Amino acid sequence: MTLLEVKGLKKYFPIRKGLLRKVVGHVKAVDDVSFSVKRGETLALVGESGCGKTTVSRCIMRALDPSAGEVNFSLDGQTTDLATLDGKGLKPFRRHLQMVFQDPFSSLNPRMMVGDLIGEPLLINGMSDPAERRKRVRELLDVVQLPVEYMNRFPHAFSGGQRQRIGIARALALNPSLIVADEPVSALDVSVQAQIINLLLDLQDQLGLTYLFVAHDLSVVKHVSDRVAVMYVGQLVEIASTEDLFHRPKHPYTEALLSAVPKPDPRAKTERIILQREVADAANPPSGCAFHPRCAHATDLCKQQRPALADLGNGHQVRCHHAHVLDLKGVGAPV
Ligand SMILES: Nc1ncnc2c1ncn2[C@@H]1O[C@H](COP(=O)(O)OP(=O)(O)O)[C@@H](O)[C@H]1O
Ligand SMILES: [Mg+2]
Repeated sequence: MTLLEVKGLKKYFPIRKGLLRKVVGHVKAVDDVSFSVKRGETLALVGESGCGKTTVSRCIMRALDPSAGEVNFSLDGQTTDLATLDGKGLKPFRRHLQMVFQDPFSSLNPRMMVGDLIGEPLLINGMSDPAERRKRVRELLDVVQLPVEYMNRFPHAFSGGQRQRIGIARALALNPSLIVADEPVSALDVSVQAQIINLLLDLQDQLGLTYLFVAHDLSVVKHVSDRVAVMYVGQLVEIASTEDLFHRPKHPYTEALLSAVPKPDPRAKTERIILQREVADAANPPSGCAFHPRCAHATDLCKQQRPALADLGNGHQVRCHHAHVLDLKGVGAPV
């Protein structure tokens, strides 16, 4: 069953210039993105910095107003387009969608103790009895495998991994069904990354959570995601099951991202594909296929015509004129 369906999502930021702040153009941060996430599933959203992942996340959470498109969310058998709701209409939905951030404390008050930080969403949602709140905070600390004594400490006393556990506890406080995790492990050491990813996987099993997991590289999503969506300059260029995407990529951009993923067998050397030139500018995207200036396979057609997102069957979609004829390298032997 589909929990979240994003349809034709666009977010254009106006570019203003001069004394009169006249609009002289738009950053097309998200330009017609569609995908859905089933209940209990993890969809990874991957792409280089600046491709629009955070903007997609913030539009889903309605921390930003989409310029166009639908954000259909299912709750108790009813589907509602969150994009059409105002602040008051959104209120009953907010608790069901929660975000986990790269740095959970950047937006939080450093003078609040951990117990109060985790308890804050409970208080806002009407749990006014302090004893009841403390009980729930204790449960939440236990769920994220932190000692209960941490309740009375301040966030600066903690390591990156511990902070992320506290951020996760806060996100879980109101029993959400969807967690949007925006680069939740990008700031952590590799060894700690694995611990947080394992925690997220355990929590998904225990609590039946659904994740949209945002990352800038593919190596971290391999073990978390059921499906992967790859973004490039505001658009999806490929979406497939994790296995299909890793073994049988169909977009040259995905192939390049995969070539940077460490191999399970260090002897199995594949050439790393170094992408030429900078990632394209969303305020002034290239003609045709936005990836063509960096693509080794680009033809005149790619310069002139933007490819549509085509379905190859099996839920594998790709936006490339030449997907059918290219023989691209994945990671590991195809199975
Ligand atoms: N509030 C904003 N105003 C103008 N441009 C923005 C704003 N937020 C993001 N952008 C631009 O939108 C594009 C996508 O940004 P973002 O969604 O943060 O990418 P990512 O999370 O993939 O790194 C970038 O070009 C960024 O500069
Ligand atoms: Mg981001």
